[in-house]
Amino acid sequence: MANLEWGKLPFGYLKTDYNVRCYYRDGKWGELEISSSETVNLHISATALHYGQQAFEGMKAYRGKDGKIRLFRWEENFKRMERSANGILMQPVTKDIFKDAITKAVLLNERFVPPYGTGAALYLRPLLIGSGPQVGVKPAEEYMFMVFATPVGPYFKEGFTPIKIAVVRDSDRAAPLGTGSIKVGGNYASSLVGAKKAHDEGYGAPMYLDSVHKKYIDEIGAANFFGVKNNTYITPKSPSILPSITNMSIMQLAEDMGMTVEKRPVDIDELDSFEEVGACGTAAIISPIGEIYDIDKDKKYNFCKDGKAGPLSTKIYNKLVAIQYGDEADPHNWVEIIK
Ligand SMILES: Cc1ncc(COP(=O)(O)O)c(C=O)c1O
Repeated sequence: MANLEWGKLPFGYLKTDYNVRCYYRDGKWGELEISSSETVNLHISATALHYGQQAFEGMKAYRGKDGKIRLFRWEENFKRMERSANGILMQPVTKDIFKDAITKAVLLNERFVPPYGTGAALYLRPLLIGSGPQVGVKPAEEYMFMVFATPVGPYFKEGFTPIKIAVVRDSDRAAPLGTGSIKVGGNYASSLVGAKKAHDEGYGAPMYLDSVHKKYIDEIGAANFFGVKNNTYITPKSPSILPSITNMSIMQLAEDMGMTVEKRPVDIDELDSFEEVGACGTAAIISPIGEIYDIDKDKKYNFCKDGKAGPLSTKIYNKLVAIQYGDEADPHNWVEIIK
């Protein structure tokens, strides 16, 4: 086991022992290669560098009380990466290559899978890039698929305590028929200005509204939004948000707990009526939201008035994390033990 302060890890890059790589050349994927290098050698005219032909995934491997290492819904990450590849005309990897790559990335870096009980996990970053050269705007003919692993603590530094969000209206991360619903780097480039604005105002993350009407809630930074009222879990339906695997899982758990689940446009004016609101994604699982500040309208929405996460957010969070670490039964077969 690596000698790290597991409980204090940031959500950041830390060198591990190996990564894995696979190349698509002459119309076919080659064998998976193991590398201990942190760099990649790329053609100066690779489409990933010039035209943003790249897509990635983010997922975690968890060590349980039994010492076993678990992956959570990896097939959903595979399917999303396949959709991302198709969305920007890249060659997707096969399911077998994807599974083999993420499994090897975990097992080769086993000493970095954090111990149970530290709240940390091994983050996996599958990455697919257009590596072949083009000068005209065209898809590459060669692709490179890689997976690196890095141990992480929770994404939001505050942990499972309420965070503060600022509504950003003067920049958009995605358009309805653009690439917001797939996980491509360009979306994150266009989210940086909004994130900076939120941070400059002293807020943890930006809330993006739909880019057409500036009325409906899209996303919170790199996480989906949800609200709870009248025993109902409500999350936005929009063509420009990334379908979160965490959110998909929470919707199922909320239903299992007897809550009603609604996926529909959520008008920002509805915020006043929610009992609890939060952000969800692989990084933090659930981040309860204590305050939403609409900068341009100078309006504040407050939640968690006692400074604590709401009861339903807490219940759902505990349930999902318990399934991920193997503490509780996994009725939907979301978890796969790889060692
Ligand atoms: C823009 C965006 N929305 C939502 C999510 C949450 O998705 P998931 O739960 O699959 O991690 C992410 C993170 O992957 C993201 O980058």
